[in-house]
Amino acid sequence: MAPYHIRKYQESDRKWVVGLLSRGMAEHTPATFRRLLKLPGTLILLLGGPLALLLASGSWLLALMFSLSLLPALWFLAKKPWTEYVDKTLRTDMSDITKSYLSERGSCFWVAESEEKVVGTVGALPVDDPTLREKRLQLFHLSVDSEHRGQGIAKALVRTVLQFARDQGYSEVVLNTSNIQLSAMALYQSMGFKKTGQSLCCVWDRLVALHTVHFIYRLPSAQAGSL
Ligand SMILES: CC(C)(COP(=O)(O)OP(=O)(O)OC[C@H]1O[C@@H](n2cnc3c(N)ncnc32)[C@H](O)[C@@H]1OP(=O)(O)O)[C@@H](O)C(=O)NCCC(=O)NCCS
Repeated sequence: MAPYHIRKYQESDRKWVVGLLSRGMAEHTPATFRRLLKLPGTLILLLGGPLALLLASGSWLLALMFSLSLLPALWFLAKKPWTEYVDKTLRTDMSDITKSYLSERGSCFWVAESEEKVVGTVGALPVDDPTLREKRLQLFHLSVDSEHRGQGIAKALVRTVLQFARDQGYSEVVLNTSNIQLSAMALYQSMGFKKTGQSLCCVWDRLVALHTVHFIYRLPSAQAGSL
């Protein structure tokens, strides 16, 4: 197990960071596909569609071809929320990581580095909501290279965010994940984050029943000892 250390993002890390983000999201496609296959609507389409075609045309071949052509379409649907998310973030906060995360005191972006490679990422931005009574930080883009998982890197990155939040006088850290990202949910829960709810965000998420799950970590008073 190679040692790693956590440091602030530098422009030269960009290629690694974008790669980690894209791979980290793309790896959820198979689980989303399996979930999609189990949805009642999909089962009806997969069984009822070919059956209806068979009854109407009397052709087994047509019915089989219809079933087979549905699978790539369902795979496309399962992939879409993840590619949409990556495309959107690369157009917004991640288009210029230094500008978005490192130009103000209350935000930051870190990487975990091991053997001169970036193997983990996490970012944090303040939540800009004037109705909030507490000062709130949002955690973004936690991702660890698949070959470096299970070594506590994600935990260390989240702790870095929590420590930063405390140092900057935030009272809460929030984040969004999804009901497909089971390792991430286990990680956040094991670190004391509490689930506050879930929602269906966009049309692709609705189609594949991908719920965004919201978590919060309430920081003890800033005077308490370090995390
Ligand atoms: C989620 C992710 C960041 C975890 O990274 P990691 O470095 O392997 O996590 P850690 O080694 O720090 O594990 C910390 C805790 O997370 C949980 N965890 C991590 N992987 C897990 C898994 N496969 N199954 C169940 N729990 C898991 C455990 O509670 C673990 O604590 P433990 O080792 O004391 O049991 C990583 O799997 C990843 O990058 N996934 C793809 C991107 C993604 O989904 N990111 C989340 C964005 S919200």
